[in-house]
Amino acid sequence: MTEAAKYQITIHGNVYDLATGDGAQVVPIDKRNRAASPFMTPPLPPQGIHGRDDDLTQVYDLLALGDEETGDVPPVALRGLGGIGKTTLATALGRLNFVPSFFPDGVLWVALGPSPTVRLLLDGWGRALGVDLLPERDEAACRDRLRAVLYHRRALLIVDDVWDVAQGQYFLVAGPNCRTLLTTRETPVAYALATRERTLRVDVLKPVAALALLRRLAPEAVTSDERAAQRLCERLEYLPLALTLAGRLLAVEADVPARMQRMLGELIERREARLNLLQAEGRLGLTEEEPVSLQAILGLSVNRLDKVDQERFAMASVFGGDPLTWEINAAAYVWECSVIEAEDTVARFIQRGLIERRGERYWMHALLADYAAELMEEMGL
Ligand SMILES: Nc1ncnc2c1ncn2[C@@H]1O[C@H](COP(=O)(O)OP(=O)(O)OP(=O)(O)O)[C@@H](O)[C@H]1O
Ligand SMILES: [Mg+2]
Repeated sequence: MTEAAKYQITIHGNVYDLATGDGAQVVPIDKRNRAASPFMTPPLPPQGIHGRDDDLTQVYDLLALGDEETGDVPPVALRGLGGIGKTTLATALGRLNFVPSFFPDGVLWVALGPSPTVRLLLDGWGRALGVDLLPERDEAACRDRLRAVLYHRRALLIVDDVWDVAQGQYFLVAGPNCRTLLTTRETPVAYALATRERTLRVDVLKPVAALALLRRLAPEAVTSDERAAQRLCERLEYLPLALTLAGRLLAVEADVPARMQRMLGELIERREARLNLLQAEGRLGLTEEEPVSLQAILGLSVNRLDKVDQERFAMASVFGGDPLTWEINAAAYVWECSVIEAEDTVARFIQRGLIERRGERYWMHALLADYAAELMEEMGL
């Protein structure tokens, strides 16, 4: 992959550049001589975006971005595991180079997270659009105001990291010439806000894209032992977050090749080494100061379960992660409950993106299985 390619997306054979640069891009005065339109899309990750042309093509089609005349396009949702790359995909969409002309009134971006202050976030959109929402009575009134303002505008609305249907609904304020993209870990949230047909499951990267991402972050590590690097991608199950964290870790050691090799070996072999990958940037719902581990990120999903389900999630580690799968009877046995109760729990896990159904059986991402195993030790189960 060339230097430019990581900031390009190919859709239906056309190559589009992604706008780079930090923070919100602000386009000067627009055609109608109004104040500058807001372009709130956050920056792309420094390593760019790898292996998402197909996903973006699907989003492009679902949002009918090829046709300005198509009105009233309902929202589209991206859903998938934590760390799979939903936010990154949404960021790439918001930075496609035709976006400012397709959406001359701007890109409104909001990240909700598990406990958003809806009112403040609505105010943020109001300010971006040049509307004062302070006098409004409540969230519903703010929503109605935004809806009225956006009725005659052409804007792209991106609502990232929705955890709750009711919270997400406040941001469904698109007018007939707007488009809305949501991201969420939770299937019921996606289906409720965007319908099942308009929900796109974001999956792990293809092996080639995963290796390209690792190479981008830690070129020395991949060059020095490509086979080992491929094995690492496989062990991290091509999960972008894990690959990114591992790549950063290896890059730090690049000056001392022997140490880097050791680290690579450790990441491949050791469970704890894989889980303790540190991430520099802060993430929503976590404290700002603490370095954030993959564990903490995955924990966000688990902490929302009740006590019994948390224990059951931890115990599910005995089934092992990918490629192992298990069936409901085994779960009922380990959890010492009825099959019906086990099905209820499993349904909740699926909704949270903690496990997935594979035919009649169930499957857990290996990193989550590692996490569950740690949890089991911690809980003394
Ligand atoms: N296609 C990609 N190419 C390169 N890096 C990626 C890609 N997708 C994701 N990443 C990196 O992986 C990490 C996780 O991605 P992202 O934050 O988009 O995941 P997410 O699905 O939004 O997770 P969450 O549910 O926790 O919000 C980020 O550090 C991002 O930079
Ligand atoms: Mg996200």
